[in-house]
Amino acid sequence: MDTIILRGDICFTPDKDHLETHPDSYLVFENGICRGIFSKLPEKYACIHVKDYKGHLIIPGMVDLHIHAPQFAFRGMGMDYELLTWLKNRTFPEEAKYADTEYAALAYGMFADQMKKSATTHAVIFGTIHREATLMLMDMMENTGLTSYVGKVNMDRDAPVELLESGAREGAADTISFINESLRRGYKKTKPILTPRFIPCCTDELLRELSKVRIQYDLPVQSHLSENPGEVELVKKLMPQAKFYADAYDRFGLFGKQAKTVMAHCVYSTGEEIERIKENGVWIAHCPSSNVNLSSGIAPVRKYIENGIRMGLGSDVAGGQTESIFRAITDTIGVSKLYWRYIDADAKPITFSESFYLATKGGGSFFGKVGSFEEGYEMSVVVLDDSVIPHPQQLSLEERVERSVYLGVDVRGIRAKLCI
Ligand code: GUN
Ligand code: FE
Repeated sequence: MDTIILRGDICFTPDKDHLETHPDSYLVFENGICRGIFSKLPEKYACIHVKDYKGHLIIPGMVDLHIHAPQFAFRGMGMDYELLTWLKNRTFPEEAKYADTEYAALAYGMFADQMKKSATTHAVIFGTIHREATLMLMDMMENTGLTSYVGKVNMDRDAPVELLESGAREGAADTISFINESLRRGYKKTKPILTPRFIPCCTDELLRELSKVRIQYDLPVQSHLSENPGEVELVKKLMPQAKFYADAYDRFGLFGKQAKTVMAHCVYSTGEEIERIKENGVWIAHCPSSNVNLSSGIAPVRKYIENGIRMGLGSDVAGGQTESIFRAITDTIGVSKLYWRYIDADAKPITFSESFYLATKGGGSFFGKVGSFEEGYEMSVVVLDDSVIPHPQQLSLEERVERSVYLGVDVRGIRAKLCI
């Protein structure tokens, strides 16, 4: 039996309303599965070496439910655009470069390095339309130690021709060959995910073909939903038969139920759409930094929590400027305060424990039993040395975690990352 024991100041959110803390305690995993937290190590573990992180914080790894690997190269630039002009002027020209595998190797190498250094242990990732470059990205992600889903993007309209599938059937065939090759490579931690970019870039024919591919391989799905007013209007024009935006995916079996699905944003989801999200068991990836940068708006996260909708956080690099999920946690809280102040006085701001929960156990549920230190959960741990930012006073464990997240201790203070 492979047993791993960590000692330190342990903190996690078994439920959204409370941050559970265990000062100077032992966290035990057997064969990668959590077996409990002990203030005194039980006798049966006496002979096992303890990884001693006394004085350091031990928290679950962060889960990024929505990030674009090819956009990492231009993060922090072009932030004065709105979504649709940003796609046209910044995103598509950059993504077109990934036809060149040399450029892809260079850029994806930098992305994978940063993901490895970050506090993120699980990620759901967009590539580009290019099969070779996306497979290269999967090779690199496999070597980072993260668990990830990676998608070759599908799009066949409303983008530069070099970013379009040559036809709906051809796009599906290329996607099948991407999936087959990714399965042939036998990755342990990296899996393919079906990735129609969003309705404005996908014809009905393409969605129909992808739906067949999805069933054939029983793939999960990722895409964008109700992000920005301009996009929502465009979808109404492009698919007038859809009752609402989500219905445009659902008509093709690409929206939850048997298809495990994560949709980024949901800023403008209406009552019917929210019902459908809930009914179909779709995960929402809340991406507050991106929603600010691209002038998209503020998602009604309180409403989603009250409705019991599955939800996690996404960095949405490069709509969001950083891959740091710590930043997504604090932005979630910040924008929820503006929502409460300006939009809906009944929508109580999101608390720190709620936001931390979304970043760990909330998003982690997309991967299974991930994001908590309850018994039976998979090993996914980040160790932080919060003394890299000194303080003069005594702090509780709760205060140390909150402060570490707000002050970005993930930049300089990660001491270890352990995953199954
Ligand atoms: N909608 C379609 N493509 C994209 C993208 O790359 N980023 C974001 N934020 N929204 C999108
Ligand atoms: Fe996105």
